[in-house]
Amino acid sequence: MMKILLISAIAALGLGFAAHANEGGHVTDIPFSFEGPFGTYDQQQLRRGFQVYREVCSACHGLKYVALRTLSDKDGLAMNPDWVRAYAAEMSVTDAETGEERAGKETDHFPANTSAGAPDLSLMAKSRAGFHGPYGTGIAQLVQGMGGPEYIYSLLTGYTGEETETAGNVLYENHIFPTGALQMPPPLMADMIDYEDGTPATVDQMARDVSAFLMWAAEPKLVDRKRWGFVAVLILSLLTILLYLANKRLWAPYKDRFREDDYREHIPEE
Ligand code: HEC
Repeated sequence: MMKILLISAIAALGLGFAAHANEGGHVTDIPFSFEGPFGTYDQQQLRRGFQVYREVCSACHGLKYVALRTLSDKDGLAMNPDWVRAYAAEMSVTDAETGEERAGKETDHFPANTSAGAPDLSLMAKSRAGFHGPYGTGIAQLVQGMGGPEYIYSLLTGYTGEETETAGNVLYENHIFPTGALQMPPPLMADMIDYEDGTPATVDQMARDVSAFLMWAAEPKLVDRKRWGFVAVLILSLLTILLYLANKRLWAPYKDRFREDDYREHIPEE
């Protein structure tokens, strides 16, 4: 029985990986630091990605579900709270209660931005998470993450350079986008920003960093979730062992009484 269970478990694992291998398409797989059961965010990468968002993407895209104060979360960017306060103060927000314009506070959210008709990016990394599943047992997702950031990376680096004009709208060809062309012009150009940590700002680097940042935006508690998940599994494993031992001890006296030979005596002869 154990053997059959083991074989099916291994087969299921294999299927998980196989399903992922078939599904690649044009989306490039990237071994992000936050993948796998113990993956964590790379603080420097998140900070770089935030810089890309701030200096490039925020011109068109909002991030309205992300609270500014989460920028100082220690499992995320761990920005200095004073810096976050100053950053918030540069923004002008409409107070929800008084309806007046005032300077932003760290308890506010990032502003929404619909000026260019671009979607909000807060949850984009999760809403486009199809690359690694859900297929089979979900093992591929557990090991390699959900693939949303991979989609964003591939989209940002996937422009062919061709443009078409349909009904007055310019569409930029990109085969990662389901329809093969989208209204977002290629947003990244090499060296368009100066990274604060001195990393060379290639298109590839910026696309990776901003994708990681958007994963954090969509799931700021990812590291916490994994940590507590691990503790839960540990406690449940311990409980399983204890229950097994308790069960054995509980039934031990009866087991002695019904030895196989005794049992035989009660089976009617054929
Ligand atoms: C000039 C404005 C502009 C800038 C700058 C811009 N975008 Fe966009 N973006 C758009 C528009 C418009 C769309 C909607 C495209 C469509 O649906 O045809 C879009 C769509 C997207 C999508 C959604 C694609 C999908 O699958 O629906 C993602 C992801 C995205 N942008 C990421 C980014 C990132 C990351 C940056 C910064 C590096 C960025 N954008 C910069 C205008 C912009």
